[in-house]
Amino acid sequence: MEIRAEKPEDAIAIRQVNVAAFGRENEANLVDRLRAVESTFSLVAVEFDRIVGHIFFSPVALEGQYQDPLFLLGLAPLAVLPNYQRQGIGSLLVRHGLKECVRLGVQAVFVLGNPKYYRRFGFVTAKEKGLGCEYKVPDEAFMVLELQDGSLVGCRGTVKYRSEFRECE
Ligand SMILES: CC(C)(COP(=O)(O)OP(=O)(O)OC[C@H]1O[C@@H](n2cnc3c(N)ncnc32)[C@H](O)[C@@H]1OP(=O)(O)O)[C@@H](O)C(=O)NCCC(=O)NCCS
Repeated sequence: MEIRAEKPEDAIAIRQVNVAAFGRENEANLVDRLRAVESTFSLVAVEFDRIVGHIFFSPVALEGQYQDPLFLLGLAPLAVLPNYQRQGIGSLLVRHGLKECVRLGVQAVFVLGNPKYYRRFGFVTAKEKGLGCEYKVPDEAFMVLELQDGSLVGCRGTVKYRSEFRECE
């Protein structure tokens, strides 16, 4: 399984992976709208020239208290074709994506999802770090992973996703 950065010719296959994984078009539309936005990035999982998984990262903003401006990203969406799920592809995409975030100098990554799935990568409940989500979700579903130790110390407030997230719901 190869994990690599998205290429321009991957856009249609990435749409198909997201539509198949989520059973709707919202996430595929979101990726199509965010792709051109600065500081976003996208990785794909490729098996025998076929794109079978996809992960996307986009900037989030912290509204509240912080000491210095922070480089924060949100992980979403993550999708694996149904026939390829539970074979470790999603985990590979997350681990590669987080490594790329470290390389880019991202201080923390947020994710809204199943805590059972994301805790294995080191994500913790964002509320423990004093940070809330703009959406009404259970506390444990909104998680953060600090990639630079202590970068969230003293931070308080609400994390806001790009407006495209709301528009694609
Ligand atoms: C979630 C998803 C990306 C995981 O990808 P994957 O390649 O199947 O995951 P992996 O094989 O790396 O991980 C498998 C592990 O995750 C668990 N898992 C997989 N999907 C899960 C889910 N939706 N909820 C909770 N646990 C899940 C499996 O039980 C397995 O756990 P184990 O290692 O303890 O046995 C994939 O199932 C998917 O595309 N789902 C539909 C879209 C979606 O819900 N995306 C997540 C949005 S936050």
